[in-house]
Amino acid sequence: MATHQLLVLAGDGIGPEVTQAALRLLDAVSEFGGWSVEKEEADIGGRAIDRFGDPFPAETRAKIDKAEAVLLGAVGGPSWDNAPKRPEAGLLAMRQYMGLWANLRPFRIFPGLEHLSPLSNATAQGVVFRELTGGLYFGEPRGRRFLPGDLEVVDTLRYRRSEMERIIRLAFQYASDHHLSLTSVDKANVLESSRVWREVTNELAQKFPDVALTHRYVDAAAMDLVLNPARYQVIVTENLFGDILSDLAGGLVGSLGLLGSSSVAGTPGTRGLFEPVHGSAPDIAGKGIANPTGAMLSVAYLVGWSWSEPEIQRLIEEAVAESLVEGPLTPDLGGTASTEEFTQTVINRARKIVQRRKIS
Ligand code: NAD
Ligand code: IPM
Ligand code: MN
Repeated sequence: MATHQLLVLAGDGIGPEVTQAALRLLDAVSEFGGWSVEKEEADIGGRAIDRFGDPFPAETRAKIDKAEAVLLGAVGGPSWDNAPKRPEAGLLAMRQYMGLWANLRPFRIFPGLEHLSPLSNATAQGVVFRELTGGLYFGEPRGRRFLPGDLEVVDTLRYRRSEMERIIRLAFQYASDHHLSLTSVDKANVLESSRVWREVTNELAQKFPDVALTHRYVDAAAMDLVLNPARYQVIVTENLFGDILSDLAGGLVGSLGLLGSSSVAGTPGTRGLFEPVHGSAPDIAGKGIANPTGAMLSVAYLVGWSWSEPEIQRLIEEAVAESLVEGPLTPDLGGTASTEEFTQTVINRARKIVQRRKIS
């Protein structure tokens, strides 16, 4: 029997709850795939600060070096908000350490959940291609400088052209492969980096004449995503704008708990980091009611990308989508189900789908 390896970083808050749910589903579908999963665990974020005094400890790095794929829950929480080292720094360090410059964040209003979108009669299905290792998140210099009677604080928005080009090219390629339109989001009316972003996008557009390209300023894009979500199929944007717009997409589809993501280095079949878009949700942590859909979809993306098992990816995606129609749903979706109950529903669904396939 083939074996796939997985490194699990459950993290903080609801991280362990949704990760455990997604792993139970993975174990169930791996039977159908005819392979087994060898899991290793490591600490990241707040948990790692408590154990090692470091949100991204050497032990975790060593395990990443050997991993085929990494599944992450979430990091952060109020108990570390004023700590000298923040849990979030561990996640950022890991993305950079693994060289994961592309973050794909698909969103859609699931059939059966239309009423949960704040918009009536909205349809939305798209993917945000977020640049993940540049921009304001990593630029130097950064920090505080004490002045007489004042404080100066600096964050630096830095990009190389090559860093823009690789993510924009990936988004064009995806749009071209799937016959979708592309919206590039920037702030070229103000920022120099955005002006270069726009130049690079226009240059690449020559190589992808089949892709309908629109440029939008980020402020207008935020408004238009709310008013006309169906216009947005593939969105490509820099790190911070992508962070913000992907949470907006979570609101648009009814819950942030519905979004999974892939952080990758561009080439399918290679190692990636897969995590829900949401955070550690301290307000519901420990209650057993977190929606595990984002984590489950992240596992689906992992299986498809890092393990090249597209059929099992589809199986997970279908089982999740059908369970969202069937219910019972978690409280973020208006239901009363626990994480556990919803997870069992998805596992049962996956079994039924496999049966259905065998018969037909
Ligand atoms: P959050 O995403 O944790 O929560 C925002 C809201 O969405 C909360 O009301 C929460 O209950 C709800 N929510 C999120 N995921 C849910 C799910 N799966 N099921 C049901 N409801 C869900 O954002 P926040 O409150 O701004 O941040 C909390 C902490 O998480 C912070 O420390 C932040 O830095 C961190 N964070 C981590 C990640 C990550 O690890 N990738 C991502 C975002 C935020
Ligand atoms: C996300 C999160 C992270 C980000 C934080 C926790 C560092 O919000 O994955 O969307 O801003 O990238
Ligand atoms: Mn975010």
